[in-house]
Amino acid sequence: MTAIILDGKALAGELQAELAVDVADFIQNNGVSPCLAAVLVGDNPASEVYVRNKRQACERAGMESQLHRLPDDATTESLLALVHKLNKDAAVHGILVQLPLPPQVEATRVLDAVHPLKDVDAFHPENVGRIVQGRPRFLPCTPHGVQMLLVRRSVPIAGRHVVIVGRSDIVGKPLANLLVQRGPTADATVTVCHSQTHDLAALTRQADILVVAIGRARFVTAEMVKPGAVVIDVGMNRTPEGLAGDVDFAAVKEVAGMITPVPGGVGPLTVTMLLQNTLAAARLQQ
Ligand code: GUN
Repeated sequence: MTAIILDGKALAGELQAELAVDVADFIQNNGVSPCLAAVLVGDNPASEVYVRNKRQACERAGMESQLHRLPDDATTESLLALVHKLNKDAAVHGILVQLPLPPQVEATRVLDAVHPLKDVDAFHPENVGRIVQGRPRFLPCTPHGVQMLLVRRSVPIAGRHVVIVGRSDIVGKPLANLLVQRGPTADATVTVCHSQTHDLAALTRQADILVVAIGRARFVTAEMVKPGAVVIDVGMNRTPEGLAGDVDFAAVKEVAGMITPVPGGVGPLTVTMLLQNTLAAARLQQ
């Protein structure tokens, strides 16, 4: 059996076309364009690619974008000053501080300084708390992209066992928070695995839906997957042979029922959800 490929790039195209209609409507009614300001520190090549993709997607959707660059030796104070300026700027609706930040910067202080109404990454403690309580303001971009892919491709979530490998603040933890909520697009039974988990394969083999976000190329092998499972690969690893996910795609696609490719899986959906949040932020500030 060969798995059905879950084409995130195609779905992102559909969603961005829908979004462009909503953006045009917003501009007509309000006379302003939703605007995303990205803050990029240093010259990390992966971050450069992410930020470029975000700018291009904004343009396609008819939204404004700004890029604020700071040098690699930027201080916490200089970032805080920039974030405060963007918080006060009425023309900016969403602020994204691209991660990772260099080690001398206190990342938590910087992320906490983003105004909760402009926090399109949904990293601010107020927005995280709202998600946990089931009354979100913004949905976290990558987890929402994963959920959207499942929903739009008619993968049932309610009552299914979702096993998440990785407990990051960007993917693992917020995804668990989304899928455990009550409601027709959630209601899952969720297990979060991490580096201290005993007998990881025994847990991943129980997954109806397996989501992997640990940043280790081809870590998940065919033996770790239940036949017919839905496998979502959030990994983006640079290897000598090129970009690779956290899942051994060639082997796992022979076992899984559905699988996302890398690239072209979750990545384009993350960007799309960020744009949806920027429009939502603009509506909240109007
Ligand atoms: N770096 C990798 N993923 C992300 C993300 O979702 N948001 C931000 N701000 N930085 C990232």
